[in-house]
Amino acid sequence: MTSPLSVIILAAGKGTRMQSAKPKVLQTLAGKSLLSHVLDTCHQLTVDETIIVHGFGGEQVKSEITNQYAQSSITWIAQTEQLGTGHAVQVTLADLPKEGQSLILYGDVPLVSCQTLAALKSANTNGMSMLTLTVDNPFGLGRIKRDQAGNIEAIVEQKDASADEQLIQEINSGIYCVDNALLHKYLPKLSNDNAQQEYYLTDIVKMAVAEDINIIAIEPEHTFEIEGVNNRQQLASLERTWQGKLVADLQEAGVQFADPTRVDIRGTLRAGQDVFVDVGVVFEGDCVLGDNVYIEAGCVIKNANIGNACYIKPYCVIDRAEIGDGVDIGPFAHLRPDTILSNNSKVGNFVEIKKSTVGHGSKVNHLSYIGDATIGTDVNVGAGTITCNYDGVNKSQTIIEDNAFIGSNSSLVAPVKIGDTATVAAGSVITEDVDAHALAFGRARQTQKNNFQRPTKK
Ligand code: UD1
Ligand code: CA
Repeated sequence: MTSPLSVIILAAGKGTRMQSAKPKVLQTLAGKSLLSHVLDTCHQLTVDETIIVHGFGGEQVKSEITNQYAQSSITWIAQTEQLGTGHAVQVTLADLPKEGQSLILYGDVPLVSCQTLAALKSANTNGMSMLTLTVDNPFGLGRIKRDQAGNIEAIVEQKDASADEQLIQEINSGIYCVDNALLHKYLPKLSNDNAQQEYYLTDIVKMAVAEDINIIAIEPEHTFEIEGVNNRQQLASLERTWQGKLVADLQEAGVQFADPTRVDIRGTLRAGQDVFVDVGVVFEGDCVLGDNVYIEAGCVIKNANIGNACYIKPYCVIDRAEIGDGVDIGPFAHLRPDTILSNNSKVGNFVEIKKSTVGHGSKVNHLSYIGDATIGTDVNVGAGTITCNYDGVNKSQTIIEDNAFIGSNSSLVAPVKIGDTATVAAGSVITEDVDAHALAFGRARQTQKNNFQRPTKK
């Protein structure tokens, strides 16, 4: 039987330097709160218990996270006074199993990877393992003291470090995997007899070493995994680093970015080969692109599935749409949730589509609103066509069957059905179903007055 794994996420700090009414761990990176990043990573491991230590803005953190993770059970522990990292873990002891081990993470260090956490857990064979890194500028961080043989002896905080100790470049990430038995044993013994008068979690290292426990240190694959967020500059810089990583992974998979620094992926993007993404494109949520998709400047694409060889012209907004192969969209098209565009269909400029299906090869090329509609194959919807789907109270459906032709500037007052191969004359207001193969006019007949005299100026 494998020993149970708990995760303890420290998230009680106020984050004063963010200058925000919002608790720091709720600030977003790549469209997701810092704390959600940590939780999502933990969910990729087999975790038996997740404990979040909250303090400043705790209720706000708790309600937002509880809403978002309704399925998972999280143990919330309030640390009413922030007396240090050691104290923060101390307050969890009553809820922490006696057996097993705990990963100790920070809510404001969002990008630690699940591979690194899995490696850290595997490295904990003696009671405690930790993530460290040798950096150029260790200022402000805890330093790793090692003995002649290279074994870890202690962690010294910046403010307690001697001049010699300050030269050490190996730093403490603050992320550990520790046997719960040791946490139960050592944490009650912490003192705050140090420069900051805080209960340092780092002091458990000395205690373990005193009992001949050989602490194993491993390094993360990427530096950004242990970078924390304390101010807006660090948040922005970590955002860029993360975007750079996502873009590099996609480049490796065959995606071309016009400028790798001018694209944002706030979620996950999977893409086929020979995809081109121009500048200023934002992806949100889960997006999937097929092969040979071409996306021009300024598009915002959210939770969309886009087939092969689609061409998306500038400034389209696509939200929860399902798009087949060979579809042309835009410029300036707005596809709202539950839009389905079938293969080889075409949606042109200033067209808004909502909760509608556009059939194979059909075209809605200019200035239209299509809502709650089902459009068959090879239909032509003329410029300025509006489906009048809302009577002020209820939404109704419009059905346009295969090969129908809707003349420009028509209003289709739903519920209404346009039959197979029917034609609607331009400028019509259609309130009744049109039969297959029929031509329907729904407008006043043109009249003419001959030899009309225009008014003259008096
Ligand atoms: C800590 C480590 C230091 C390490 C650094 C890495 C200690 C004593 N020092 O520094 O060796 O290099 O992290 O970033 O552990 N927190 C609480 N309650 C508290 C105090 C902190 O929840 O009472 C949380 C904070 O919200 C934050 C994390 O713990 O997420 C770290 O706190 P912070 O003050 O940034 O760490 P340091 O003590 O400076
Ligand atoms: Ca910090």
